[in-house]
Amino acid sequence: MMLIPGPVNVPKSVALNSTIVVNHRSEKFRNVVAELERLMKLAFSSSRVALLTGSGTLAVESMVFSLLKKDEKVVVLTYGEFSERLLDSVVKRGTSPRVYKKPFGDIFSPEEVKSILDENKDATSIAFVHNETSTGVAFRDLRKIVEIAKGRGLKVLVDSVSGFGAYEAKVNEWGIDAMATGSQKALASVPGMGLVGLSEEGVTNLQDDAPNYLNLKLHLKFQDKRETPFTPAVGVFFATLRAAELLHQEGVERRWRRHEACASYVRKIAERSGFSLLGNESNFSNTVVAGFPPISPKSMIGELMKRGIEISGGMGELREKVVRIGVLGMVDDRAVSRLRYALSDILKVDLSIEPPAECKLPESIAQEVDWDN
Ligand SMILES: Cc1ncc(COP(=O)(O)O)c(C=O)c1O
Repeated sequence: MMLIPGPVNVPKSVALNSTIVVNHRSEKFRNVVAELERLMKLAFSSSRVALLTGSGTLAVESMVFSLLKKDEKVVVLTYGEFSERLLDSVVKRGTSPRVYKKPFGDIFSPEEVKSILDENKDATSIAFVHNETSTGVAFRDLRKIVEIAKGRGLKVLVDSVSGFGAYEAKVNEWGIDAMATGSQKALASVPGMGLVGLSEEGVTNLQDDAPNYLNLKLHLKFQDKRETPFTPAVGVFFATLRAAELLHQEGVERRWRRHEACASYVRKIAERSGFSLLGNESNFSNTVVAGFPPISPKSMIGELMKRGIEISGGMGELREKVVRIGVLGMVDDRAVSRLRYALSDILKVDLSIEPPAECKLPESIAQEVDWDN
């Protein structure tokens, strides 16, 4: 059983769809492109969604290269490994970044964001990671941060690769110019697609000078004809369409509440097992539980593996110091219960707490998800 922060265990019908291969210039595939964009626009609450063949990094880089102008002043908030990668893309775009850094496990409060923007009145954009997969902390109140930035007229670029689907987020209504994600996270599809939700304003802010593969304007122009500019990962599109249907079958709101409930439960059993977690109630992630285990990270990972559960180690500065448990995609009461029994067995602790009802998948979807291997 994989409890890593992506890729994730996918429903059977999603896995099956990933094997389909058809002509990408056929009517059958055009219907997939149109329906996938329609469903994902509803999920992002956005004007458009660019459908890209590649990983989350492609979604982030295409957002950066298509939305930011060279030499533009961009505030970048960094608080972990993926924030550093976002910053690297912003630098490579040739912008003039103003970088603010928090130690791993910490995050910026709305007041801090306000004062950073007050110090940078000439900035025209802000870019940050919504949910730091490397540390298990997140901007829980994304709406507030966007409101502060939008109130100053900034373009807002959000890397929500591991956040999308696991939190409330409304691209158009809140005024997020672009929000990037990947197929293999809370959306629970197979790896291979990057998706960028764009607000109406985000679409008008698209630049022309990005390299073709990163050029969102070009991608949207082809999507207007229900096509993609280059050969897409056909099977991944079919799989992601099925994943989007299941997202709506569950309900977008119910999905983010399930993530919140399951993550909160995993934190509870981890703390009771003696873990010292990164973050606090104000910034805990809904998709990644990260912390210092009561035995060495290597032993923790090894002992869980012996019981058939795969979790991840730390990244960057936290390599070999912490472990990270992915609580995303189809994770439900059955998966977290299996983790609970394993932790109880390894650490000889009493973990007699049941997962909350919100951590369950709807029965029709649960039938499709196997946690036994
Ligand atoms: C926040 C964040 N940004 C970017 C990425 C990069 O995504 P990918 O590995 O799909 O390229 C990840 C991957 O875990 C991530 O969690």
